Amino acid sequence: MKKLKEKHKLSLDKFINLSLYDKKFGYYMNKNPFGKKGDFITAPNISRLFSEMIAIWIISFWQSLGSPKKVNLIELGAGNGEMMKVLIESFKNFPFFLASCKFIIYEKSPKLILEQKKQLKDLKISWIKKLKRINKDPTIFIANEFFDAHAIKQFIKRNKLWYEKFVYFNNKNNAYIFEKKTDIKKLEKKINYKISKNEDFIEYSKIGINYLTNISKMIKKNSGGLLLIDYGYSGKKMKNTLQAVSNHKYSNFLKNIGKNDITHHINFSLFGEIIKNLGNLKYNYTTQKEFLIKMGIKKRAEVISENLSFLKKTDIYYRLNRLIGDRQMGNLFKVMLIKNKENKFKLGF
Ligand SMILES: C[S@@+](CC[C@H](N)C(=O)[O-])C[C@H]1O[C@@H](n2cnc3c(N)ncnc32)[C@H](O)[C@@H]1O
Repeated sequence: MKKLKEKHKLSLDKFINLSLYDKKFGYYMNKNPFGKKGDFITAPNISRLFSEMIAIWIISFWQSLGSPKKVNLIELGAGNGEMMKVLIESFKNFPFFLASCKFIIYEKSPKLILEQKKQLKDLKISWIKKLKRINKDPTIFIANEFFDAHAIKQFIKRNKLWYEKFVYFNNKNNAYIFEKKTDIKKLEKKINYKISKNEDFIEYSKIGINYLTNISKMIKKNSGGLLLIDYGYSGKKMKNTLQAVSNHKYSNFLKNIGKNDITHHINFSLFGEIIKNLGNLKYNYTTQKEFLIKMGIKKRAEVISENLSFLKKTDIYYRLNRLIGDRQMGNLFKVMLIKNKENKFKLGF
């Protein structure tokens, strides 16, 4: 806790960033938060059908790029490595793609890199710490719950003036929020977007927008695409979506610093505007339910459960429902594809 104690006052995003990624006590840096024993479960860990659909999507998208003989597949924030494992297993049915593809994981947490290396041993994968290290070949980026794991800033408008939220704390269990007046125009200049237009509350991730911009520029230059799957919404009006989870329950992110998974929901309208401003790019957008159904997940469930016992069949359909059910992940999670304008590919959308 040394670093936190020394600083006392931090902008909200800096505070979240330390809570999640501080080398000593950061939430993601010391533990494996996935699965039953962890704090949450992600789609690849609910059912392998999820990653199988993504695998088929990747093959088709690669074909839309002209089946390049050299292509990179990058998973951004690979968690426990489950998705990459199933992807590569599925690609064994597509040997030409397998031979053309360089598999890369971009991961920040040393603890999770170890976990991924264990899970993916014997497979040819490289781990990178900087996106700049990627070569100039066409690149397909896959990001499942990557963008929601980034720290956010929040601003509020009172009497026509904008204030940014900060965190003050004495010790790891005594922190509170305060506000500081800010010049919103300066921020708008930086991100080249009038984020405060028609808003009286702003929530956005500076880190997330930087990733989105840099990756989109790489796609423009080298060809490829970004498939992004995340909890989010698309209304123009921004919402306060900050939330913390510990032990599968909602928690207070100002308490037990380093023990909570702090997330937010992606504002896909904002992402869309940023993409539009970059020019020559196009995006497609739908719900996880639509995407997975269009990719054939129901048919796949039917085929694999054909000769199984009732119990195993029930388990497959229970998990399928978690992925596509209206009140489960189906509508809450959205899928966005960012690609070059001239590429008319729209499978899954
Ligand atoms: C919510 S988890 C999702 C993991 C995985 N994609 C899944 O669906 O199970 C977020 C992942 O992104 C990683 N991560 C977060 N911020 C990152 C960053 N700036 N650079 C690289 N990895 C990051 C985390 O360590 C973690 O592996």
